[in-house]
Amino acid sequence: MTYKRGSAVIPAGKLLALGFTLAVLLIFSITVFAAPKRVATAKPGNCAACHGQEKVFSPSHVDTKEMAYKDCLGCHEKTGPQKLQGKLPGSHLHRLRDINCEKCHGKAKKAGEVKMKQCLTCHDADKLAEKTAKVKPENPHTSPHYGTSLDCNLCHHQHQKSENYCNQCHKYDFTVP
Ligand code: HEC
Ligand code: HEC
Ligand code: HEC
Ligand code: HEC
Ligand code: HEC
Ligand code: HEC
Repeated sequence: MTYKRGSAVIPAGKLLALGFTLAVLLIFSITVFAAPKRVATAKPGNCAACHGQEKVFSPSHVDTKEMAYKDCLGCHEKTGPQKLQGKLPGSHLHRLRDINCEKCHGKAKKAGEVKMKQCLTCHDADKLAEKTAKVKPENPHTSPHYGTSLDCNLCHHQHQKSENYCNQCHKYDFTVP
């Protein structure tokens, strides 16, 4: 259909474009408004305080509102298929142990990047390498290339899924918490 001056008919091309724009707007607003919020004062086990109506659990899951990490361990052992490592963002695993936002971000009004040296105020890279010495197929915390100095944030992410930096070149089957 062609567009004629004065015609009330909207050409198919324009309709398509309009429909497309609306669809994009709809998807955009769904992602923005359904996104979990970082409510700094929420109890770590109170998933709904930040996730709202979003289903983070199967309906049969026990109520975790008042729970901390040690309570989860009753059912989620540290290794094995029920482990929480790799299933929750790092910030969650920290908050469940009472490590709040400020302990990484300080008191800055606008939280941003966190340098490795902040991680090292609580974690000791050498001790960590000893602790994971038996992890198969290789120790993720030391390597012939980087020793123990590789930036934690290259593997461990606090607000998104962690990744396995070594696998750019190797094939190590790690679960990165
Ligand atoms: C009474 C036992 C029990 C306790 C306590 C418990 N869970 Fe679970 N959890 C389960 C079971 C069983 C499943 C798997 C079935 C399901 O999803 O309900 C599960 C599943 C999950 C999943 C989904 C895992 C996946 O593989 O997708 C997450 C995330 C989770 N639990 C987090 C937690 C956290 C965090 C805590 C502590 C604050 C906790 N759970 C406490 C029993 C428990
Ligand atoms: C264990 C340390 C740690 C904790 C705890 C933590 N963060 Fe972060 N945060 C980081 C790191 C590292 C980054 C850099 C980006 C990344 O790795 O995801 C970051 C990035 C951010 C950013 C900027 C980038 C983005 O993703 O928006 C904001 C805002 C933020 N954090 C807020 C918070 C709030 C609010 C809390 C508490 C609910 C919190 N953080 C808890 C380590 C932490
Ligand atoms: C205020 C202290 C503190 C800071 C800062 C901190 N952590 Fe932690 N972190 C802990 C504690 C406590 C635990 C739980 C005990 C343990 O595994 O060492 C933990 C656990 C972890 C775990 C294991 C999670 C699990 O459940 O297996 C990782 C990975 C981790 N931290 C990485 C980081 C990284 C990366 C940073 C910097 C962005 C950081 N931490 C900053 C205190 C801290
Ligand atoms: C090459 C990726 C990589 C880097 C870089 C890395 N980690 Fe890890 N980290 C892992 C993996 C994989 C595990 C899980 C090991 C296992 O299976 O027990 C882990 C486990 C941990 C644990 C839990 C250890 C335990 O057994 O309780 C902590 C705490 C931790 N990392 C902190 C850090 C800190 C702090 C840094 C920076 C100094 C760091 N990691 C750098 C991959 C990495
Ligand atoms: C303090 C607010 C807060 C609490 C409490 C909280 N979450 Fe989250 N959660 C978030 C935010 C925000 C994200 C998006 C990643 C980020 O920015 O850290 C997220 C991401 C996730 C993810 C990764 C996938 C996704 O949806 O993006 C899972 C899984 C998850 N949360 C599960 C849980 C479970 C289970 C609980 C309760 C035991 C919980 N959360 C409690 C704020 C929270
Ligand atoms: C940019 C690519 C690259 C990255 C990233 C990388 N490696 Fe390697 N790595 C190599 C190469 C190439 C060799 C030599 C292979 C050979 O001689 O067979 C090697 C060798 C090794 C060796 C000696 C034993 C062997 O398999 O030959 C170990 C152990 C090792 N890497 C561990 C790691 C760990 C742990 C990480 C992550 C922290 C890592 N590497 C990240 C490229 C990489």
